[in-house]
Amino acid sequence: MTFDEIVRARYAAKSFDPAKTLPPDKVDALLEVIRYAPTSFNVQPWRVMVIADAERKERLLAASWNQPQVTSCSHHLVFCANVDLDPLVQRLKERSLAAGLPAAKVEGFLGMVRGFIAALDDRERLAWAQRQAYIALANGMNGATALGFDACPMEGIVPAMYSEILGLPETLVPTVGLACGYATDEPRPKLRFTRDEMFFERV
Ligand SMILES: Cc1cc2nc3c(=O)[nH]c(=O)nc-3n(C[C@H](O)[C@H](O)[C@H](O)COP(=O)(O)O)c2cc1C
Repeated sequence: MTFDEIVRARYAAKSFDPAKTLPPDKVDALLEVIRYAPTSFNVQPWRVMVIADAERKERLLAASWNQPQVTSCSHHLVFCANVDLDPLVQRLKERSLAAGLPAAKVEGFLGMVRGFIAALDDRERLAWAQRQAYIALANGMNGATALGFDACPMEGIVPAMYSEILGLPETLVPTVGLACGYATDEPRPKLRFTRDEMFFERV
């Protein structure tokens, strides 16, 4: 499938066949597509919890506005914003140096990144990390279609309940879910606004 075909074929699946589990190689391939998502300054401020355990998915149902995608899916991915940014910058430094980038350049760049982060208050820090998580989510949505299965992005989650049920630290903020599996419903017609409504100043 070309990328154009993928974005047209992808849809938010509302129900999955609970008897059909995604094979491990498909899950691995999806996680790689997600991992390669770009992030601002390459800080990568998100982590994804991958949940295949039926009991755990069942416990998340009430925390997901009772949306049945959570329990019928094969794997439920929980995209969490990671607001503990300083260790990520340190890690980026290690990776950059290990990749052979010149130390002075790395330090200069990371100095700018640290300055950017230091200027953020807690809300801005969370919002920034969440924006990066959504880019990864988009990779996951399209990635599922490219890999031959289905997914439903899910903002209809209660973050505080997710945190408690999943035992997440305060620094990992559940932001959006991606229920993945083999859909039992059919794509609905695409309802999109027109080009003129979406784009302007184009030649
Ligand atoms: C960030 C995001 C969050 C969403 N949250 C939910 C959700 O909680 N439950 C749901 O059924 N659909 C959810 N959707 C699916 C949208 O309703 C759907 O993408 C939109 O109606 C367009 O339809 P399509 O994706 O099938 O083309 C979400 C989509 C996005 C992008």
